[in-house]
Amino acid sequence: MKAAVVGAGLMGSGIAQTCAQAGFEVVNIDTFPSAIDKAKANLEALFARKVTKGSMTEEKKEEILGRLTYSGSFEDVKGAAIVIEAVPEKIEIKKDTFRKVDEAADADTLIVSNTSGLSISEIASVTNRPDKVMGVHFFYPAPVMKLVELVRGLVTSNETYEKVKEFAGQIGKTTVDAPEYPGFMVNRILVPMQNEAAFMVMEGSRPEDVDNAMKLGCNHPMGPIELTDFVGIDTMLATMTGLYNGFHDSKYRPCPLLETMVKAGHLGKKTGQGFYKYDEKGNKIS
Ligand code: 3HC
Repeated sequence: MKAAVVGAGLMGSGIAQTCAQAGFEVVNIDTFPSAIDKAKANLEALFARKVTKGSMTEEKKEEILGRLTYSGSFEDVKGAAIVIEAVPEKIEIKKDTFRKVDEAADADTLIVSNTSGLSISEIASVTNRPDKVMGVHFFYPAPVMKLVELVRGLVTSNETYEKVKEFAGQIGKTTVDAPEYPGFMVNRILVPMQNEAAFMVMEGSRPEDVDNAMKLGCNHPMGPIELTDFVGIDTMLATMTGLYNGFHDSKYRPCPLLETMVKAGHLGKKTGQGFYKYDEKGNKIS
């Protein structure tokens, strides 16, 4: 079965990898050639590490890579049973992508969005198949995290929901049904915690103290500041801003330090500078 993933950034490339590992023929589409180059290089480096470590054989690596192709054209969604959109978290970019995918895809193709909080009903409204559109929210890193949130729009059909749920199972994910409100379920709980942690750093706490507090005091695998660098400060700020604008509630006010860091281009691990500094291999150096 063929799946298409639109967007080859951190999330899109990880989702494409997840589907290819589960046995799907996958095309990962991005109109920016540099994004495709980066996705390919990251995946090759990740798989090379797995082979060296012994958690993947060379044959398995070749088999998975053989199922994964890259393209710069929306036309390549043709023949896909499902298209997963993972483009930047801006409503106009999402709508533009859905219009193009809707035009190019087969009539019975399901189109799902990996949005972390935008309205599925609004995204679906620009297509001619709103009943075949819903949200499937993955977590970073997509190949590792076991959960996906399923989010139905106002007119998502039962058939679409059942098929998408089956697809999530086929790629090895456990699902929860999340409401169509900003942040859905996980981010509505998680991101305000990361935001509060950023406020504490802004007030003078050391990032490593805030991280150790949550790692050692609550057994979190990563501290909230480290996690913000890991998923991208821009992504986290976009989600927080979505909660603030969506609920019209000051309790979701984004931390100004995050806004300043994004303006400065300090986006976390992916740019080498966030709350911490990283070398070109992504290892924390300070
Ligand atoms: N991409 C793909 N695979 C990755 C990866 C990445 N970025 N990072 C690690 N992995 C894989 C490794 O290859 C390894 O696989 P293997 O066992 O087959 O070799 C496996 O994950 C474990 O890696 P490590 O041993 O290097 O690392 P850890 O055991 O320290 O685990 C972690 C790394 C899974 C990232 C762990 O630290 C963790 O669970 N962190 C919390 C992540 C989290 O909270 N994610 C949710 C973020 S919020 C979000 O996504 C919302 C969205 O809207 C942005």
